[in-house]
Amino acid sequence: MAHIVGGIATSHVPAIGRAIAKGLQNDPYWKPFFDGFAPVHNWLAEARPDVVVVFYNDHGLNFFLDKMPTFSVGTAASYRNADEGWGIPEVPPFTGEQDLSWHLVNHLIEAEFDITTCQEMLVDHAFTLPHALCWPDQKWPVKVVPICFNTVQFPLPTAKRCWRLGEEVGKAIRAWDSDARVMVMGTGGLSHQLDGERAGFINKDFDLAFMESLVSQKPDWATQFSINELVEKTGTQGVELLMWLATRAALGEQVKQVHANYHIPISNTAAGLMVLEPR
Ligand code: DHB
Ligand code: FE
Repeated sequence: MAHIVGGIATSHVPAIGRAIAKGLQNDPYWKPFFDGFAPVHNWLAEARPDVVVVFYNDHGLNFFLDKMPTFSVGTAASYRNADEGWGIPEVPPFTGEQDLSWHLVNHLIEAEFDITTCQEMLVDHAFTLPHALCWPDQKWPVKVVPICFNTVQFPLPTAKRCWRLGEEVGKAIRAWDSDARVMVMGTGGLSHQLDGERAGFINKDFDLAFMESLVSQKPDWATQFSINELVEKTGTQGVELLMWLATRAALGEQVKQVHANYHIPISNTAAGLMVLEPR
């Protein structure tokens, strides 16, 4: 059976792509952010994942407001990035792990999640930049399964439901008939709001409490909040923490924190990073 080697949760901000393209990793603005990834590289060298299951949200590249699935799973042989209008270079395509994709689709439908299966799927900055941060040479050593959450157009799935989906994904990975080493990744957050009266809103106290909760005895702490409460506490785009919750849920009951970093701001975002291992 497949083995979950760990999980990485990280923010995703298009400006990271521009910083990488310009080689600004040691620039004073960017250094505290990029330095957070050195321990991730060391951990990846030991954990040696073969496959990454990625919880992320699309921002209008693959799904637009006319068709918006709540949860969707990629089942493609390969996934391409494309221009989203942020002016960042496209990254090389990703190879899909189709056997795991279909195994997850079957398991999730059986577990009563009405997911959309996507045999073609473009992946945006929320998917590509965390990979570029983990593997800076962009020679992806892993196959991927994208799992996309709607965090863009209301109504959004509740935190509780995202947690439960993460739990089911974890169960399904552990039941997958394969000797692959699987990593889970969640991208988005932490607190940020890009538009409206509260543009620029950041809530450090909440972010730190949330990160701490993921390694506590009550890792589903944030599921007590409604989506509106999460927006109030973290900003309209801060709800992207839903993907962190699914990542944590997939890892099982007990985890060990391998690494964490938190830095304000990267663009308009409180940038968080965690590496967790199941125990
Ligand atoms: C920013 C953050 C995001 O999560 C995103 O998807 C786009 C932009 C930002 O802070 O600039
Ligand atoms: Fe985002």
